[in-house]
Amino acid sequence: MLNIVIDDVIYKAHRGELLVDLISRTGGSIPHVCYHPQLGPIKTCDTCMVEVNGQLVRACTTTANEEMKISTKSSRASAAQVEAFDRILSSHLLYCTVCDNNNGNCTIHNTTKLLAIEHQRVPFQSKPYEVDSTNPFYRYDPDQCILCGRCVEACQNIEVNETLSINWEDPHPRVLWDGGSTIGESSCVSCGHCVTVCPCNALMEKTMLGHAGFFTQLRKSALKGMIEVVKGVEPETGYGTILQVSEAEEAMREHRIRKTKTVCAYCGVGCSFDVWTKDRHILKIAPEHGPANGISTCIKGKFGWGHINSEDRLTTPLIREGNRFRKASWNEALSLVARKLSELKAQDGPDSIAFISSSKCTNEESYLMQKLARAVVGTNNIDNCSRYCQAPATMGLFRTVGYGGDSGSISDMGKADLVLIIGSNTAESHPVAATRIKSAHKLNGQKLIVSDLRENEMARRADLFLHPKPGTDLVWLSAITRYLLDNGQADAKFLEQWVNGLEHYRKTLEPFTMEAASRICGLPVETLKTVAQMIAAAKSMSVLWAMGVTQHNQGSDTSTAISNLLLVTGNYMRPGTGAYPMRGHNNVQGASDHGSMPNNLPGYQSVDDPEVRTRFESAWKAKLPSTKGLDNHQMVEAIHAGKLKAMYLIGEDMSLVDSNANFVGDAFSKLQFFVVQDIFFSNTCRYADVVLPGAPSLEKEGTFTSTERRIQRLYQVLEPLEDCQPDWKIIQDLANQMGADWKYQHPSEVMDEIALLTPLFAGVSYERLEGYKSLQWPVAADGTDEPLLYINGFAFPDGKGRLFPVTWIGPTDSPNAEFDLHLNNGRLLEHFHEGNLTFRTDGIREKAPDTFVEVSPELAEERGIQSGTWVQLVSRYGKVRVRALVTDRVQGRELYMPMNSVESPVNRLTSSHTDPVTNTPAYKEASVHMNVLSEVGESPLPRINSRFGHPTPQQGVEVERKWKRADYTPPGNGLVHLQTK
Ligand code: SF4
Ligand code: SF4
Ligand code: SF4
Ligand code: FES
Repeated sequence: MLNIVIDDVIYKAHRGELLVDLISRTGGSIPHVCYHPQLGPIKTCDTCMVEVNGQLVRACTTTANEEMKISTKSSRASAAQVEAFDRILSSHLLYCTVCDNNNGNCTIHNTTKLLAIEHQRVPFQSKPYEVDSTNPFYRYDPDQCILCGRCVEACQNIEVNETLSINWEDPHPRVLWDGGSTIGESSCVSCGHCVTVCPCNALMEKTMLGHAGFFTQLRKSALKGMIEVVKGVEPETGYGTILQVSEAEEAMREHRIRKTKTVCAYCGVGCSFDVWTKDRHILKIAPEHGPANGISTCIKGKFGWGHINSEDRLTTPLIREGNRFRKASWNEALSLVARKLSELKAQDGPDSIAFISSSKCTNEESYLMQKLARAVVGTNNIDNCSRYCQAPATMGLFRTVGYGGDSGSISDMGKADLVLIIGSNTAESHPVAATRIKSAHKLNGQKLIVSDLRENEMARRADLFLHPKPGTDLVWLSAITRYLLDNGQADAKFLEQWVNGLEHYRKTLEPFTMEAASRICGLPVETLKTVAQMIAAAKSMSVLWAMGVTQHNQGSDTSTAISNLLLVTGNYMRPGTGAYPMRGHNNVQGASDHGSMPNNLPGYQSVDDPEVRTRFESAWKAKLPSTKGLDNHQMVEAIHAGKLKAMYLIGEDMSLVDSNANFVGDAFSKLQFFVVQDIFFSNTCRYADVVLPGAPSLEKEGTFTSTERRIQRLYQVLEPLEDCQPDWKIIQDLANQMGADWKYQHPSEVMDEIALLTPLFAGVSYERLEGYKSLQWPVAADGTDEPLLYINGFAFPDGKGRLFPVTWIGPTDSPNAEFDLHLNNGRLLEHFHEGNLTFRTDGIREKAPDTFVEVSPELAEERGIQSGTWVQLVSRYGKVRVRALVTDRVQGRELYMPMNSVESPVNRLTSSHTDPVTNTPAYKEASVHMNVLSEVGESPLPRINSRFGHPTPQQGVEVERKWKRADYTPPGNGLVHLQTK
């Protein structure tokens, strides 16, 4: 700490602290327009000028140092601040009262007030450009743009989509998309970073325009007239009076605009943000304080909320009558469900009934669902969709390090010296997590290796891209581990101190020579050695993986091989190291954590442990089943075998997302009684006997747990629509109809019960999670959490990790003469999973209207295919009709199909083969035959999709180019006429 004098008062400062932060922290105020703490210094606005030891400097760029005497209010500093801001006002029309950005947080409005500006010295100059409204979600108004460059910095260096720049050399600079394209046809991925950080109304969400203000719905001509009037009176009244009027209007808004914190309902990154609403209209998503994301979001979190007010929401319970459904009251529907389940339980036993919990629902709802299954019905037949994706990763970590979760935080990924991504399309599936890596790679020299079948965005950015043969990751990972051990490049000290089983494990690595790996994986030995050298040279390595690893018949073993490699190289227990299985759904981690699994009660406490059962039995006052129940894969088989008669499924379109969809659909049609609870009439609802309308995340309270084990609260933004109910209430009502006596008034009471019964969450409470506070499990009773796991040892009794031998078997389904093409599948940035939510946002549908199959240029040429050609894909299990997209992202005879389709779901083609350890379907092991149809349509991806854009990477705003302009002089050098009060 240093002593620093600010305006004649001595303050303590951190060495290296930016003066702008120091001055704010110590209660002072200086103008600063372009500076944003999450973007760092941009240096474009010059409004933060202060005098330091007699020199004018920018407070946003100057760091605290010894013997600094700072003056924020000297006449030189004040004059420079005003001069700089005056120039800004020449680029911006002040019409606050009729501006949708007049919400108390407009930096220009607030700085005008702070500097007590009364009159503009430099007159407003319109820019010779039209407003650009070609993006479905936001618009850019050049006339309001002050060229602060925040948007450019966010796009270039935080999101790292590298779309935005400013043409500083032009006589009339402006923000450019792809160097001069329309926004709609640019590479913009609609992540919203730029809109979020814009300090004024130059970039605005279209959902705000005409909705936020009381006078902002005016027609353009009327608006122009009002602006003219304001401009007309300004010379006489000054801005002070005009601002008072706008502040009165702003105060009126405070009463009708609600700002409520929530957590994103899509992927497992766990972005959190405020939702601004006016009645049921969503004005905007405002990210800022989220511990995982800060100002970041992706297209789905920022703009993908069309499902909330969609006209086809389920709003009342439905009961099947023959081939139709009729509306029913809650009482009738729940009575029927309770009666049917009770009858079947009495007749065929509790294990004739099964439950599927939702990874879109809250932790509390998952907990209640498994409590209903176990304590009320008496079965362990409960599962959730982590079986489809994450169970193998969890298994790999259970085997080797003890906890089935990410070993660090998303911020650790940015700290790593080397990031290795295997089978994860991170930039599209976990976009905000990807930004942290893209940014560290671009700005901090982080190294990146990507192994994937497709050359996805991360692969294109990587220092090294590996394209192994499908299903062979286990082999090259094990070969590199062996190579490092053989060449003395393992971390011997770490192994000695922290790891068991080296001797035996080493013997099992014998088959994994570099040569064998090269042959099996189709990767050159030299490439494999380069990977090994990069890993050996890295001070810290984080490994990310996802469904490209887990959805194979050896998903668990490959996940284990990843963790083995991390153990052998000492890449656990430190920031920047560790294992990051990227969780897919927003709460897929939490669904398993809270006991929606056939073998575990909440907190991974085994159902066959008598001590555990006794604890739950005494709290729940019910006898609990002791044998493992059916997982969701086994449930489908048990229905076909006539053993499973009824199912209660929440928030999961299982008939599309489970593999071998036709087989699953056939099973559902055999159920004697089927209850589906969802917010839309999904494909799975077609098989139901009773459909119950649940509530989406914005209509309820609860918590979600993200991929980094972070538990966060979501607050109710809107009342449940019409007759919908929060899912926890529905489960409780059903339990009570079946004889339970649950009396939860609020999800916080459910969480209190969870904390009491589950050591992993002992210290979790709603108080500790208030607002943007969060906890990363395990959470001790005193509330201490663990953002970085294993700092004091691994989660085994002796604190040591375990090397777990694995052998390679090979994929279950490989191409042959009949099914000659390999079909891979996965997510698309714009859509989530099958698209049930995201297709209900118009703008997303515009950008990505349909699914498609990616075909390599060489295969396209061989088969006479172009983008838009209809093809039929036929596997051993089914067929789909889909349009082709010819792209070099895929190679040779490998195809890729995004999973976002209800009409042509890729899972009609996938098999029922599974990873034998976890029963996770081998979705990624599918072979197909392709019939080229005569019909040729439009390209399935429209020209306005970001993939057709041409980004313009540069080092941020590049303000130096502005400073080279002939008309630029630093403020304080020119004549300054003070016009403040
Ligand atoms: S990608 Fe598009 S929305 Fe995202 S920051 Fe860049 S320009 Fe803005
Ligand atoms: S559009 Fe960009 S440069 Fe213009 S005011 Fe907004 S953030 Fe600044
Ligand atoms: S989908 Fe994922 S990355 Fe996108 S905003 Fe939501 S949590 Fe964040
Ligand atoms: S805030 Fe310092 S230059 Fe803009």
